[in-house]
Amino acid sequence: MIFNAAVVVCSDKGARGERVDTSGEYIREFLQEKKFNVIEKVIITDDIDTIKNKLIYYADEMKVDLIISTGGTGFSPRDNTPEATKEVIYRDVPGIGEMLRAESYKVTPRAYLSRGVSGIRNRTLIINLPGSLKAVKENLSFLGDVLNHGLKILKLIDTECGV
Ligand code: MTE
Repeated sequence: MIFNAAVVVCSDKGARGERVDTSGEYIREFLQEKKFNVIEKVIITDDIDTIKNKLIYYADEMKVDLIISTGGTGFSPRDNTPEATKEVIYRDVPGIGEMLRAESYKVTPRAYLSRGVSGIRNRTLIINLPGSLKAVKENLSFLGDVLNHGLKILKLIDTECGV
């Protein structure tokens, strides 16, 4: 089973072309190495409606299995990604954010400054990651088998959790 994925980079500077996107590229390559079919990577502003619309588009129209966002999870007034995500998900998955922050805390106490959330809209899992390349690399390394197993359950490929 090959899962489809989209990568959403939330960054005002990135969208204006003032910053080269390395975090979204890293996510794309990471997913491709894990045999995901990454249908698109998009760089958008931090506007809450823009983020919401993109998430809904990938979930409802493109029906991707996974959306990973990067950026906009901190304390800046323009950090809107968690709010946008919370407005579009139907089911909260608090454990992913809890696990990512707990593991990230072993690297930096600033991990807890990320307000990133995860959740499910229909058959699409949405995961918010922080914006920096360093944070993205670390967070992706912590996801491990959780991603694949969670998606298999969500897509009814696996119905039993043996381990
Ligand atoms: N998580 C990991 N693993 N490594 C990091 O370096 N940086 C933190 C945090 N999470 C970091 C991390 C910092 S400094 C901030 S401000 C928040 O993520 C929010 O980042 P964002 O606003 O780019 O989304």
